[in-house]
Amino acid sequence: MTYIGTPTSRVDGRAKVTGAAKYAAEYNTQGLAHAAVVTSSIAKGRIKRIDASEALRVAGVLAVLTHDNRPPMAKSDEAYKDEVAPDGSPFRPLYDGKILFNNQPIALVVAEEWEIARFASSLVRVEYDEEAHVTDMHRRRNDAVALKPGETPLSPPKARGKAEQALASAKVRHEDEYYVPIEHHNPMELFASTVIYERDGKLTIYDKTQGVQNVQRYVCGVFEMKPDQVRVVSPYMGGGFGSGLRPQYQVVLATLAARALKRSVRLVLRRQQMYQVGYRPAMIQRIQLGTTSAGTLEAITHDAVTVTSQYEDFYRQETGWSGLLYKCANAKYAHKLAKLDLATSCDMRCPSAATGSFALESAMDELAVALKLDPVELRLRCYSDRDQSADKPYSSKKLRECYRAGAQAFGWERRSAAPRSMREGSELIGWGMATGVWDAMQMAITVRIALSANGHAEVACATSDIGTGTHTIMAQVAADMLGLPLEAVTIKLGDSSLPQSPVEGGSWIAASVANGIATTAEAVRKELLRLAKRMPNSPLKDAAADDVTLTDGKLVSKRDASRAVSITDAMRHGGVERIEQEKSTSFEEDGPRAHNTHSAVFAEVRIDEELGVIRVTRVVNAVAAGRILNTKTATSQIMGGVVWGIGMALHEETLIDHTFGRIMNANIAEYHVPVNADVHDIKVIFVDEPDESINPLGIKGVGEIGIVGVAAAIANAIYHATGKRVRELPITLDKLQG
Ligand code: MOS
Repeated sequence: MTYIGTPTSRVDGRAKVTGAAKYAAEYNTQGLAHAAVVTSSIAKGRIKRIDASEALRVAGVLAVLTHDNRPPMAKSDEAYKDEVAPDGSPFRPLYDGKILFNNQPIALVVAEEWEIARFASSLVRVEYDEEAHVTDMHRRRNDAVALKPGETPLSPPKARGKAEQALASAKVRHEDEYYVPIEHHNPMELFASTVIYERDGKLTIYDKTQGVQNVQRYVCGVFEMKPDQVRVVSPYMGGGFGSGLRPQYQVVLATLAARALKRSVRLVLRRQQMYQVGYRPAMIQRIQLGTTSAGTLEAITHDAVTVTSQYEDFYRQETGWSGLLYKCANAKYAHKLAKLDLATSCDMRCPSAATGSFALESAMDELAVALKLDPVELRLRCYSDRDQSADKPYSSKKLRECYRAGAQAFGWERRSAAPRSMREGSELIGWGMATGVWDAMQMAITVRIALSANGHAEVACATSDIGTGTHTIMAQVAADMLGLPLEAVTIKLGDSSLPQSPVEGGSWIAASVANGIATTAEAVRKELLRLAKRMPNSPLKDAAADDVTLTDGKLVSKRDASRAVSITDAMRHGGVERIEQEKSTSFEEDGPRAHNTHSAVFAEVRIDEELGVIRVTRVVNAVAAGRILNTKTATSQIMGGVVWGIGMALHEETLIDHTFGRIMNANIAEYHVPVNADVHDIKVIFVDEPDESINPLGIKGVGEIGIVGVAAAIANAIYHATGKRVRELPITLDKLQG
């Protein structure tokens, strides 16, 4: 194969850097109106009155929409449920006067110009009947709602063995609590929708989303429209990270306005408003580990309390990773939801594993200290070749090789075990490590390929490319499967009118769409062979479908490379200008083998002994994730995950003023993320992990695994440097004092 596995620059890179690639807020049309959102200043209660008269007097203002005067919207919860909605009653923007969270959209000002809409939105006066709210999870800890183990795939797993007894008799025990605050995604691109209103009332919606068909179905549900009346387009995305998995409220408001005014409308959220479209739930996690004196695990318990809204129960399986990863006969889990007067929490890069692993891998480090064992050695003693939860063998698991390759590249053998034992000048040096684990999921998908007689192929699927490089890997796979140069492949994606795709999330698109392309390309090849066989004296007349491959624009016999027919000849001779095939693929959900991706993360910190300033000077992330389609874009994914892990460890924290139930740092100046000066040497290693059983190309996906384990590796390095264990993220320098 020419392209699969090779470092390939993004096929859409030129379009992106020249600005030719258009994002949701960049589509223009004649008579486009602009909207601005008014949000609530209380966290709970009812709107008593909205006075828009002053806003309406501003020249250029077209309308102020509120729950009192908006066009009709669907009444059932079902209509508002999208493909990835959690249980509950989804938020309905501008539906009624109820306030469910602070900064909630309550009115929409539409004007001829954006500046006018924005200014007029400041003139809308609102009176409320306020009710008492709770936004502090610690106040809800005792009346949090328990999830029943084993009830759904996302519930905590059922217990195995007898964890309490095993803990009681364990030689060495560790127990503690770990806290992760609310964090926000902060993609560069703001949520935006440009709704083009066609004369017959049909809508083309340019939307920032991770799933165009999900948004299309949702808009059809909310506005009781037919699928052929709504087309959703999103070929590029300036970062999603999970915040765009569900349709966000700007698409409802922009559509409402377009339908009310019978005009095209654009709505771009402000950065502050981005902080009320979902977040990584804060969580308190309690872990207990019990081992033999030899350092093999006897018992694991993992309890979590995570944050969600009053109206929906969002959660992921935070606790389940602990019992999955290491060999241990006894495991027990509990998970409770703290329901707060906030918007519903949502997926954020590697939801549950990024956070669950912070707790587990910090606890494992503490256990290694108690056992006087090297942290890598402890993990090797607890290593499992089976999925411990499902008790199944893995189709592939090269985590051992990740430990080895990562440790070697990092120079781990030079680590001196005692805390505070490594220093240079005024800086303490700490080396820490952690394990990462994520799913290797695959979803049903449909791909269409149209091959022209001139040797050009168009590959179409409704999937998004949220910035991960999906355009590029699709082109690579198609080029290899069709035997064409990369330049001869055009990718069409991010359009709801294209063949079916799930939302792009969970790291499942690379495997799903690549397999879809391979399957459809096979159908194209068969059709070409049928045509080639009909040629007089065809060199392939006896060839079976599996005997030929497509290489260099030709159908070639695998047995005898001199027997070949060019694509062009086969099609021209058959009188065919275009071969079009569309195939759907699905995957066995509960097969005999388990699938995960794994990583070993090694981090170095240097900490000013007097000031406590922490620098993460080196990170090595060794990843086993099946076959890597494109080592260049995949390295970028892992690097991005590591940078985010640095943010998780040291910087990120959404702060709420609980008196008002309002986020205080809803901007990227006060919500801290790593900047260039915080990011030093990051080395990404892909461990070769052939896996022929997961899918024919052996792909697992790398979008999320890069962040897992990073925060724990850094926290463990900080302990090693200072002797101080911080169990509460982010690890700011004040937490190192005293
Ligand atoms: Mo990912 S958090 O499923 O976009």
